[in-house]
Amino acid sequence: MKETIRVAVTGAAGNIGYALLWRIASGDCFGANQPVTLQLLEIPVGMQRLEGVMMELKDSAFPLVHEIIGTDDANTAFKDADAIFLVGSRPRTKDMDRSDLVAANGPIFVGQGRAIDAVASPNVKVITVGNPCNTNALIACANAPSIPSRQFTAMTRLDQNRAVGQMAERAGVPASKIHDVFIWGNHANTMYPDPRFATIDGEKATDVFDQDWLQGDFLGTVATRGKAIIEARGASSAASAASAAVDHMRDWWQGSSGRIVSMALPSEGWYGVPEGLVFSFPCRCENGEMTVVDDLPIDAFAQSKINENISALMDEREAVSELLGD
Ligand code: NAD
Ligand code: LMR
Repeated sequence: MKETIRVAVTGAAGNIGYALLWRIASGDCFGANQPVTLQLLEIPVGMQRLEGVMMELKDSAFPLVHEIIGTDDANTAFKDADAIFLVGSRPRTKDMDRSDLVAANGPIFVGQGRAIDAVASPNVKVITVGNPCNTNALIACANAPSIPSRQFTAMTRLDQNRAVGQMAERAGVPASKIHDVFIWGNHANTMYPDPRFATIDGEKATDVFDQDWLQGDFLGTVATRGKAIIEARGASSAASAASAAVDHMRDWWQGSSGRIVSMALPSEGWYGVPEGLVFSFPCRCENGEMTVVDDLPIDAFAQSKINENISALMDEREAVSELLGD
């Protein structure tokens, strides 16, 4: 057995938390030989629900769970944390865009960024799930100046998984046959699920599917899937979001086995994306590090979608400028 790691989850008594904690506790994320201490954060009104969740976690008797801490204090939740899932925040309703949540949710990530800076492990890996997740990750990162910005990411893996699901269904193959489709940009309707390097059972996706579908229904379905789920379920995606958060952190922690995966992280200028914008890029993960695949050719359509996402994220950054510290 390895040394125990500390994993913090915010919004732990919420819908995503309820699906996520069991996957972490079972070893799906950090490995079957990796013991974990769970450090769970809620707001005061969520503490009673959190008590119930913790009771159920204990009742599940997971061999890998060393300790479970529940708290409404961010400094306690993030103390020495090796991995943090920033989930806690309000979900949108069907009449909203995700960016409409920034006024309600953005300020949460100021205090949490500061707490991460103050008490988390200097090597902490942070995934932001709470929406609008790219800009919330930007806020947390800006408020944690002592932690390298590459350690702050936002989740576009759910969008990637949706793209895989759409391709698998249309081609009539299992999801495992789809490789290297990934997401550019913002977790918003402007996102670009890029099929140009994807393969379906070894064949190029661009040979298997026609361009009209790839740039039409495929793109539209993936980009608007969050709203379609809210309309169908009456609540925002939760189990699939938790599963994608596990995929994101697992690949970052354990490696992506050479596959391209989507991760939003602060740009270092890749593909002309302005520095600091939290933008989803094609990445590969190895030895606990992600590397942006920075040499893919960009055609006119991809460039127009990348530009659209830059512009949307610059607008969001402008809207939260007062939350970004000095
Ligand atoms: P939920 O309302 O079921 O749960 C949110 C939980 O967060 C609640 O228990 C609430 O008490 C808690 N919370 C609120 N403010 C907090 C704070 N400051 N600190 C700690 N906890 C806090 O919502 P959910 O369905 O779990 O969704 C959570 C977020 O994830 C939403 O913003 C949603 O839009 C987002 N989301 C993102 C993706 C993605 O792909 N990036 C996918 C699905 C959902
Ligand atoms: C999703 O994509 O399912 C989430 O971001 C929830 C939402 O508001 O769409």
